[in-house]
Amino acid sequence: MLRFLTAGESHGPCLTAIVDGLPAGLEVDIEAINRDLTRRQGGYGRGARMKIERDRAEVLGGLMGGRTTGAPVALRIDNRDWANWRERWADDDLPRLTVPRPGHADYAGMVKYGLDDARPVLERASARETAARVAAGALAKQLLAAFDVVVGSYVSEIGGMVATIPDHPLADLWARAEESEVRCPDAEASGRMKAAIDRAKEAGDSLGGVFVVAALGVPVGLGSHVQWDRRLDARLAAAVMSIPAVKGVEIGPAFENARRPGTHVHDEFVPAAEGGVSRLSNRAGGLEGGMTNGQPVVVRAAMKPIPTTLAPMRSVDLATGEPAETEYQRSDVCAVPAASIVGEAMVAWVLADALLDKLGGDSIAEMAR
Ligand SMILES: Cc1cc2nc3c(=O)[nH]c(=O)nc-3n(C[C@H](O)[C@H](O)[C@H](O)COP(=O)(O)O)c2cc1C
Repeated sequence: MLRFLTAGESHGPCLTAIVDGLPAGLEVDIEAINRDLTRRQGGYGRGARMKIERDRAEVLGGLMGGRTTGAPVALRIDNRDWANWRERWADDDLPRLTVPRPGHADYAGMVKYGLDDARPVLERASARETAARVAAGALAKQLLAAFDVVVGSYVSEIGGMVATIPDHPLADLWARAEESEVRCPDAEASGRMKAAIDRAKEAGDSLGGVFVVAALGVPVGLGSHVQWDRRLDARLAAAVMSIPAVKGVEIGPAFENARRPGTHVHDEFVPAAEGGVSRLSNRAGGLEGGMTNGQPVVVRAAMKPIPTTLAPMRSVDLATGEPAETEYQRSDVCAVPAASIVGEAMVAWVLADALLDKLGGDSIAEMAR
């Protein structure tokens, strides 16, 4: 029902997102979109590019009087860096790259599209594109918020520095994460993570890590057990895995659960004081049988280390066939905090789509009914 597409190159004029399927009557707060764009730009360990950009979304269609009309919403985010590239772009004089960088789309993209230069590949494979996703995801968050569903995130691990996450309500962990330069609710671990990023930078290296996205207020029964492509755990995993550099996704503490016996894993029921049932734990991460079960939805993601490193790596110059070293391109040392914001956008997107699927309706009023 809900879908979005993005377009735009990393050093081109802008990024564009077309968001289709939003119900009519949703009041859109553009500043809330911009706040998420700013959150995506932040985080200790980012490169010089983020000092140039001041991402803001411009709405080019689909809103009237600040509300959705049911028509597609078109969003544009300018690349300020374009000013530095415009002439080279016009003269078809972009820096060529014939030495594919390990961990990037360069090699496979060159072979697949029959290119002798990785420039067209890296321009689009760049995670700059995730700014457009965050803008689209911010619209999904606003749709969810109309039904009291909120999505947030925090970072639990960077470069092997593991946080001790206190057993506090998720909203409290999110608030603490906003205070941390690495979006980690554990202040002591934040310090260790920053020091690890400093060391990696000094060594010309890069780091990855783990972030956790969760959603509160999700009703029971989004998704379905009846067909593989309607299972919401699968759809969430695909959406989060689509984030550049994310290579592992867990629902709840899935890998830890795999090491424990069943009676220590499954979330037991007890009668709830207000009637119905409640649970003694949430190790299932809010999903059973491909459906939300009324508990917070918890998705964890593993991000590989940033593939661009100042210290060169071995490669081959595809123009000559000779061994060569990778050439450094301006880059982040660590982008796990930024990726957690992209994770929020992707989780919000899938949940908003599933909510629309469950409630139906062409307007917010119909959905509410
Ligand atoms: C928010 C964010 C920022 C990123 N920044 C960089 C970067 O500055 N330099 C880099 O080499 N990779 C960066 N990446 C990762 C690459 O885009 C990604 O690893 C690469 O395109 C290859 O795709 P794959 O890792 O999914 O296979 C970033 C990823 C995210 C999510």
